[in-house]
Amino acid sequence: MRIGDSLTGERVRVRDYRRSDLEFVTGMWFDPENGAYLSDPDRDHVDAVYQKALDRMEDSPDGYYLVVELAGSGERAGTCCMFPDEAGKVYDIGYCIHKSHWRQGLGRETVSLLLHWLRERGAQTVTAEAAAENAASRALLDGLGFEVQRKSRFKKYRMDVEFESVVYAKTLAPHTKGKDDAAMDMLELIAKRTSYRGRYLPQPVPREDLRKIMEAGLAAPSGCNKQTTSLIAVDGPEVLARLKAAIDPPVASTAPAAICVLTRKIFAYRDRCYQVQDYSAAIENMLLAIKALGYESCWYEGHITDLDRIDLKMAAVLGVPEDYSLVCYLPVGKAAQEPRPSPPKKPFEERAWFNGFGGQETGEGSGE
Ligand SMILES: Cc1cc2nc3c(=O)[nH]c(=O)nc-3n(C[C@H](O)[C@H](O)[C@H](O)COP(=O)(O)O)c2cc1C
Repeated sequence: MRIGDSLTGERVRVRDYRRSDLEFVTGMWFDPENGAYLSDPDRDHVDAVYQKALDRMEDSPDGYYLVVELAGSGERAGTCCMFPDEAGKVYDIGYCIHKSHWRQGLGRETVSLLLHWLRERGAQTVTAEAAAENAASRALLDGLGFEVQRKSRFKKYRMDVEFESVVYAKTLAPHTKGKDDAAMDMLELIAKRTSYRGRYLPQPVPREDLRKIMEAGLAAPSGCNKQTTSLIAVDGPEVLARLKAAIDPPVASTAPAAICVLTRKIFAYRDRCYQVQDYSAAIENMLLAIKALGYESCWYEGHITDLDRIDLKMAAVLGVPEDYSLVCYLPVGKAAQEPRPSPPKKPFEERAWFNGFGGQETGEGSGE
C-alpha cells in the first residue's frame, strides 16, 4: 500500500519506498548498529526481500513500507513501516533512523507523523515492539504516550540472537473525553487548519455534514447580532459544474461540494456596518468545522472578487438577490493529496505581546 504524496513534518518527510532506495534500505537493515534490533532481514536474499516489500506496496493491503527523508535537503534519514490488522483499526508500526541522524529527535517526529496520519484515517490503536535493552526506542514510545502492554521476545531471522522485548500500544481515539482533551483538540484543530489547494477525491459530502458546517458558520458572532451572513451549499452536480465554469482560471475544480458565502450590508448602529467582520468569523468557524469533519477547504475570496468579478457570475448561477454579495467560495471534500503545511507564520514575538506594544512591558505588572 502507498501513503500517496509525501507526509511532511517540520524536519522530516515520510514517503513510499522507491526502487532506487534499495541500497540505502538494505544498508540500514544489515548495519550492525542500525539493524541491531531489527527482527526480520534475511541476509542471504536481500534483493528478494526488498523486491517482496516493493511488490507488497503495489498490490497487497498488508503494509506500508516507507523512507524517512530530511524535509529540507531530501537526504534519506531512515525507514519506517505500518501494518494494519484486517479491519484497518489497529496498526503495528516500526521505525529505524540512520545512525548518522541519531539523537536529533527525528524518530519522534517520524512516529508523530505516522500517528497523525493514522488518526486521520480512523485507526484506533497503534502498537510497536522495542527490544527491552533499546532504551532510546523505548523512551521515544514513552514520550509519545504509548503504554506497555506486555513483555515478549523476538529472534533475528536465521540468527542465534534473541531479544527480550516490550510491546507497546497507544489508543488514538478515546471513547470518552475530558474537558482538557476537548480544549486540546480545539487548539490542535486550529493549528492544523491549512489552505488546501490540491486535488479532491470524487467522494460526495453527505448533506448532514454540509449542514453541520453551515451551522458552525451561522453560530459565529456578528456585530450587534445583525447576522448579516447567509450561506448556500452546492452539491448538485449540475449547479456545481455551472459554478465551476464561472471560476476562470479554475480553482478547486475537483471538489465534490462547496459553500458560497453571502453577505448583506446592514447598518448595525449609526453608520457602522460589520458585515465583513461577520462573514469572516463565519468563514473561520466553517473552515474549522470542515477540518474537524475530515475534509479540506480554502478561503477563496481574492480570486472571485477581483476585477473580473467572478462573484457576479456565480451569484447569477445561484439566483442571489441584488442586495446580497457573494464574497467567498469554500470548496469541501476529502483530500486526494496530503495537505501541505501552511506557509510559516511570523514569529509570535513579532506580532503578539504582553502589556504594551512591541514587547516592552510598561507600568503595573512589568516587575519594574
Ligand atoms: C480574505 C481572504 C481571502 C483569501 N483569498 C484567497 C484566494 O482567492 N485564493 C487562495 O488561494 N487563497 C486565498 N486565501 C487564503 C490565504 O492565501 C491563506 O489563508 C494564507 O496564505 C495563509 O495560509 P494558511 O491558510 O494555510 O494558513 C484568502 C484568505 C483570506 C483571509
